[in-house]
Amino acid sequence: MNHQTRVYNDIFEMLPTEENPSPMVRINRMSPSQDFLLYAKLEWMNPFGSVKDRAAWAMLLDLEQRGELGKGRGIVEPTSGNTGISLAAMARARGYHMRAVVPNKIPLEKKVLLKIAGAELDVVSDDLCPAPGLGDGSINLAKTHAKASRDKYAMPNQYENEKNVEAHFRTTGPEIWRQTEGKITHLFLSLGTCGTVTGISRFLRARKPDLKVIAIQPTEGHDVPGLRNVTQLGVSKLFDSSLIDDIVEVEYRTAYTRALELCQTEGLLAGPSSGLIYEGAREIILRDKAGFGVMIFPDNIFKYTSNMMKHIPGLASGNQA
Ligand SMILES: Cc1ncc(COP(=O)(O)O)c(C=O)c1O
Repeated sequence: MNHQTRVYNDIFEMLPTEENPSPMVRINRMSPSQDFLLYAKLEWMNPFGSVKDRAAWAMLLDLEQRGELGKGRGIVEPTSGNTGISLAAMARARGYHMRAVVPNKIPLEKKVLLKIAGAELDVVSDDLCPAPGLGDGSINLAKTHAKASRDKYAMPNQYENEKNVEAHFRTTGPEIWRQTEGKITHLFLSLGTCGTVTGISRFLRARKPDLKVIAIQPTEGHDVPGLRNVTQLGVSKLFDSSLIDDIVEVEYRTAYTRALELCQTEGLLAGPSSGLIYEGAREIILRDKAGFGVMIFPDNIFKYTSNMMKHIPGLASGNQA
């Protein structure tokens, strides 16, 4: 493996590490303050397209090393899409089958991509799944599959799996520390399973106790796939409020308008959760004035064209052949 020439023996060698970090790109035209350096860490540059590559790989390797996979035993996992896409592609490349349980509300693109990546799909109806993004219905159904067919399925369960946190403690945290040369003052991210926030914050706070960790959440009743409002966080065992300084709530539709602006102003083809995170960062930067901030941009816009058409007037018109 050679990260200089970027010639690899398999796709797994491309996964992010301190020696092969996901890129950090500076925000220029949308910079909220001259005195505040702001960077976006582009997690969509990971080989399977999102921040969830990190957790998926750590959870899959752990199952493999414990002898939980193989001989007809694959994976079942509840997912709002990104974890499932990473897990499905990884599992299939290693010869395991994968079943993803998803809420109906996730974008059509994610459902199709899950199938393309090789997952069998259970789509849970909205009734079973009151919370948009990822509902308890999908978690319970995945658990039912795992219990009923122990010989067929292992369930990583990203909501409870410490490997999810450890992945970020071992990779994302050290990457940011090295990429910012320890100068980071503010970390901006959002909350899904909370593996990202808990893992990075644990690593960076140990080196820089006064680092500000800001979580950005969409307003309740939101439509930003992959994310949870704090009122929906009970389900994540990985949420640790002591590692977060501020939670900024952003009107969820702003996620879409800011994502569009990032695409059209910065050349960053950022998805809606990145738009949401940018807006929260902007509000804190206007408050704190000076600093060195890093935003985690979880994935890009390609999986959200149908959501964008719903939330951005004008995008949907004139698309018929
Ligand atoms: C699209 C997407 N996937 C996943 C996540 C959540 O990451 P985690 O599950 O580690 O909290 C986010 C959070 O920002 C996200 O926006």
